[in-house]
Amino acid sequence: MNDEIEKLKSEATSEISQLNSPEDFENFRLKYLSRKGWLAQLFEKMRDVPKDEKPAVGKSLNELRGFIESKFVERKAMRATELASDKGPEIDLTIPGRKRFFGRQHPLTQTLNEIKRIFTGIGFGIADGPEIEDDYHNFEALNFPPDHPARDMQDTFFVSDNSGKFVLRTHTSGVQIRVMENNKPPVRVIMPGRCYRNEAISARAYCMFHQVEGLYVDKNVSLAELKGTISYFAKELFGSEVKTRFRPSFFPFTEPSAEVDIGCIFCGGKGCRLCKHAGWLEIMGCGMVDPNVFKFVGYDPAEVSGFAFGMGIERIAMLKYGIDDIRLFFENDLRFLNQF
Ligand code: PHE
Repeated sequence: MNDEIEKLKSEATSEISQLNSPEDFENFRLKYLSRKGWLAQLFEKMRDVPKDEKPAVGKSLNELRGFIESKFVERKAMRATELASDKGPEIDLTIPGRKRFFGRQHPLTQTLNEIKRIFTGIGFGIADGPEIEDDYHNFEALNFPPDHPARDMQDTFFVSDNSGKFVLRTHTSGVQIRVMENNKPPVRVIMPGRCYRNEAISARAYCMFHQVEGLYVDKNVSLAELKGTISYFAKELFGSEVKTRFRPSFFPFTEPSAEVDIGCIFCGGKGCRLCKHAGWLEIMGCGMVDPNVFKFVGYDPAEVSGFAFGMGIERIAMLKYGIDDIRLFFENDLRFLNQF
């Protein structure tokens, strides 16, 4: 009996040191410690031990059980620490989390969407045209005389294909021509898009900017409708209190032409730094479509009339949000963009 006890002790000890996985531990438990396991079987054999030896053998058996159980528990604990330290670098739960930023629309996109919302709400559709435009659509069909200063190298980026025919469009007005070439009247659209001018870059001017053009052509479209439409637009965009005024101006493709001012939204018209003490801020150019333009696109000026307008989206956004440097729109500095 004592031999068996010793044998079991050494076998169990060496097996315990090999235990790794949860299954290993369970198999060991079944083999040695369960009700049908080796230990239990040894305890069964107590029946055959002569009476006078029983106390001593019983004591050894109890010691064996205590020994195996404690080694087993010890190994289990050791294994748990081993596994825990296997998990790579320690996790520091006190380090602050990384903040995730929500994306948002660029202030120019927000402004354009607002402009689109206002005009589509009163029946205008949306059209667009190419940024590389031919001289005909950017100038000629818009009634620019051949020697008009706007064609000058100072303002226009010419595309160097040696034909001298293509330019980066200097305004969106060429889209008016394209829309009228492809559609019979009535026409009522706005035409947003990117434009380019060869200007010295400053807080006020950038080589690239965005415009929204508007065009409405039908029978008997009047100057009063132009004024009403633009006043409505200004009130929607800048608030119902805002005043508008129309100042005579000149564009080759409209006659009469006007610049539209709104009462200064910063000082209420009293005069401040932002309106240069005029009390008024210029927001767009507009006018009645020149009969010559109708002739270029094959519309009969005796049949139809219309109005057109064009505004810079940067300028509108600068006024709306009180931004004083146009370059901020193109630097993509998140500290700027996150404010909108
Ligand atoms: N195209 C003009 C500009 O770039 C704006 C304009 C558009 C004026 C339509 C009148 C009518 O300044």
